[in-house]
Amino acid sequence: KLIATDQAEAFAPSNIALCKYWGKRQSELNLPVNSSLSISLAHLGTRTQIRPSQTGEDQVVLNGQLLPVESSFACKVISFVDLFRRGRSYPLIVDTRNNIPTAAGLASSASGFAALTQAINQYFQLQLPDAVLSAFARMGSGSASRSIYSGFVEWRMGLQEDGMDSHAYPLDIIWPDLRVGLVKVSTAVKAVDSRSGMKRTVETASLYQSWPAQAAQDLEKIHQALSDGNFSELGAVAEHNAMSMHATMIASWPPLLYWQPDSVVAMQKIWALREAGVEVYFTMDAGPNLKLLFQEKNQALLETEFPGLEVVAPFEASESLNSSTTTV
Ligand code: PMV
Repeated sequence: KLIATDQAEAFAPSNIALCKYWGKRQSELNLPVNSSLSISLAHLGTRTQIRPSQTGEDQVVLNGQLLPVESSFACKVISFVDLFRRGRSYPLIVDTRNNIPTAAGLASSASGFAALTQAINQYFQLQLPDAVLSAFARMGSGSASRSIYSGFVEWRMGLQEDGMDSHAYPLDIIWPDLRVGLVKVSTAVKAVDSRSGMKRTVETASLYQSWPAQAAQDLEKIHQALSDGNFSELGAVAEHNAMSMHATMIASWPPLLYWQPDSVVAMQKIWALREAGVEVYFTMDAGPNLKLLFQEKNQALLETEFPGLEVVAPFEASESLNSSTTTV
């Protein structure tokens, strides 16, 4: 039997992978081919509230708008909640709000499923440990497993068939001067979503065969860079890892090219800045936008070079990041 509170609310941050997750070994449970490592984006993410629905029907509200229950977002949310309700009738209102600037082109599924998992945990008073929450969040969206934690986070792929050992771990490393800059290239183009993109890459790109070994090697290099406090190495490995992932996408059939002409313009600008001695690196996900990695000392310069750059300080002090239950 589930015991519901009157209301629960949780926040989870978005995250950017420095060593990417690309490819599933099992698609129903979102079990990855490789382990990955990310940085969480502090205050940028999703806040989700759960309360009982008086109408007897589930309701899903996204950024203040009630969604039709048959919309794909509402269906995903409801079937995720069903993992916990397992046939028991607890009609809910899931009210979810992203504070990720829509123009920044950041996916919100990672923070969305992490916040939803935490809100469900509180609403039904399940008291599940973070590792289990991370494994559940993973089933909503792989990268959501990492959004359960702040700071640097590693999602270890695990070996078990049930996936319960495939969850994230927080790393005990703090880099206060690390900055992540979001460069908006385009929000107009509808990309192929990551699930179908991964499937196409795994099934059609023979280049993908080299990915698991490369990812394992990059993960190790990133761990080393983190423990050495070596920003240049961290940035270089993250950029190389992102380009390698994109190479496997481009080698798929039909080709998966997430870049727009302006993505390439921005890449070339970053390489020119590096030539000129400015330590800035980039990473990219399944879309045309770039995420810059740099240190605080270069923030002003990069804000000038990339007008409209949204800058996040992942280790900034913040009071209300962690989730809380409110009972009314
Ligand atoms: O969690 P998903 O299914 O949205 O996949 C995320 C895929 C990448 O963003 C490209 C890489 C990553 O590790 O976040």
